[in-house]
Amino acid sequence: MMARYDEKLLIEIEEREEEKIEGIERKELKIPNLAEREVIRHFIHLSQMNYGVDTGFYPLGSCTMKYNPKILEKIARNEKINYVHPLQNEKNIQGCLEIIHKLEKMLCEITGMDAFTLQPCAGAHGELTGLLIARAYFEKKGERRKEVIVPDSAHGTNPASAKMAGFDVIEIPSKQGMVDMEALRSVLSDDTAVFMLTNPNTLGIFEKNIVEIAREVKKKGALLYYDGANLNAIMGITKPGAMGFDIVHLNLHKTFATPHGGGGPGSGPVGVKSFLERFLPVPRVREKNGKYFFDYEMPDSIGKVSYFYGNFSVLLKAYAYIIMKGKKLEEVSKKAVLNSNYLMEKLRKAGLEVPFYGRRMHEFVVSTKNLNIRAMDVAKRLLDYGFHPPTIYFPLIVEEAMMIEPTEDATKETLDNFSNAIEKIIKEPAEILKNAPQNMPVKRVDEAKIAKKMILSWKDLKKS
Ligand SMILES: Cc1ncc(COP(=O)(O)O)c(C=O)c1O
Repeated sequence: MMARYDEKLLIEIEEREEEKIEGIERKELKIPNLAEREVIRHFIHLSQMNYGVDTGFYPLGSCTMKYNPKILEKIARNEKINYVHPLQNEKNIQGCLEIIHKLEKMLCEITGMDAFTLQPCAGAHGELTGLLIARAYFEKKGERRKEVIVPDSAHGTNPASAKMAGFDVIEIPSKQGMVDMEALRSVLSDDTAVFMLTNPNTLGIFEKNIVEIAREVKKKGALLYYDGANLNAIMGITKPGAMGFDIVHLNLHKTFATPHGGGGPGSGPVGVKSFLERFLPVPRVREKNGKYFFDYEMPDSIGKVSYFYGNFSVLLKAYAYIIMKGKKLEEVSKKAVLNSNYLMEKLRKAGLEVPFYGRRMHEFVVSTKNLNIRAMDVAKRLLDYGFHPPTIYFPLIVEEAMMIEPTEDATKETLDNFSNAIEKIIKEPAEILKNAPQNMPVKRVDEAKIAKKMILSWKDLKKS
C-alpha cells in the first residue's frame, strides 16, 4: 500500500520550522567597516589566544601531549601520498601498503606482539576492537564467558568499551595504588573473558606483580588486555608482550606524535598474539614476492572496524616518527620517566601529597587535599600563570587528584617554572584561587549550571 501524506501535518511542520528560523535569522549583518590592518590584528590576536604544545608546557596526565615535530606534518602533506584515493587499485598504491605493512611490523617489535591492525581510529576504538576480538575468540572455542575485570584506577573508556562489546564489567579495588591480588583472585572465574590493565597504571605506578597477574588470569583461561595509553613510559625498556599481555591497543596520537588536543585525528592500532591473529579486522595487508596486497580471506575476522584502513595521515606520522627516533625510542621513555620523577619530588617538597609515594614512571598523581585546597582551583590559577593545567580528578581513587605528565620534551627550566608556579599558587589567599582565572578571556565558569542547564543551540544562547 502506498503511504499517504498527511498534508495538514506537513503544513504544520513547515510553519513550525519557519517559526524556528525566524528567531535565529539576523535581519542585517553588522559587519564592521575596518581597515585590513585592524582585521589582521583582530585575527592574529584570536589565534594567539589558543594554547597548544607549540605554545607552552602541556602536562595533561594520561594524554602524552608531547611536541609534534613539524617534519612529520610535512611528510604527511606529501602530495604523492595525499592524492591517493583509498579505492585505488592496490597495484597503484604499493607505497602506501608498504607503509601500513612496515608500521605493523614496527609496532610488533616495540610491543612484543605478533600481528597488528591499524584500523581503529582512537584508543577507545582500539579497546572496542580488542574486546570484540576476545569475544570472537571465546565464541569460536564455544565458551560463553561474559565478564571483563577492570581495576578501579582504569580509564573510563575501559569499562565503557567492555559494555559496548557485550560484556559485564567487574571492578576491583587497588591496594597501595596497584592491583589488589587478593581482590583479583576472588573475582577471576570460568566466566572471566578479559582482565584489562594499564601498565604503568593511571597513577604512573608500574604494576610490579604483572607476571603473577598474567599467570592468574591465564590459569582461568582468560585473556590479558593492555591499555597502551601509557606506552610512553616503557618503549625500548620492556614490552607488553613480554609481560604476558594477549591483546594490546596503542594510542599513536599520544606516544607517536600527532597533534590531538581538541579531539584531532587519532589512531588506536590493536596488536595480538599469534593465536588471535585470525580474528583481526579485514582486510589485512600482506606481502608476497615484494608485492603488497589486501587479504580479505579471513573467515574468523571480526570484520571491518573503520572506513578504509584507518587514519592514514596519523599512521604515516607514527611511521616517520619511529624511523626518526630509531634506537633512541628508549631515550624518549627514559627522559619521560626522569622528568616525571624530578617534578614529582619538587611538588612533594612544595607540600603536595603524593599518594602511595614511591618511584613513578612517565606520570604521577598528587593530591591537594592535605592543603585544604581544591585541585580545580589550582588548575584554574595555573592558567593565570601561563600554563595548561594537568588532568584533575582522575584517577577517581585519589581525592583532589592532579595527574601530571610532563613528557620527555620538558626542559629542566620548564619543570622548575611549573613547580615554582604551583608553590606560589598554594600559598595564595583562598579568594584569589576561588576566582581564578583572572587574566583569561573567559573567567571562572559556573560548572553546576553548565551541567544542569546545557545550551545546545545558538537560539538558546541568545535567550540565556
Ligand atoms: C589510560 C587511557 N586509556 C584509554 C584512553 C582512551 O584513548 P582515546 O582518547 O584515544 O580514545 C585514554 C585517553 O586519554 C587513556 O588515558
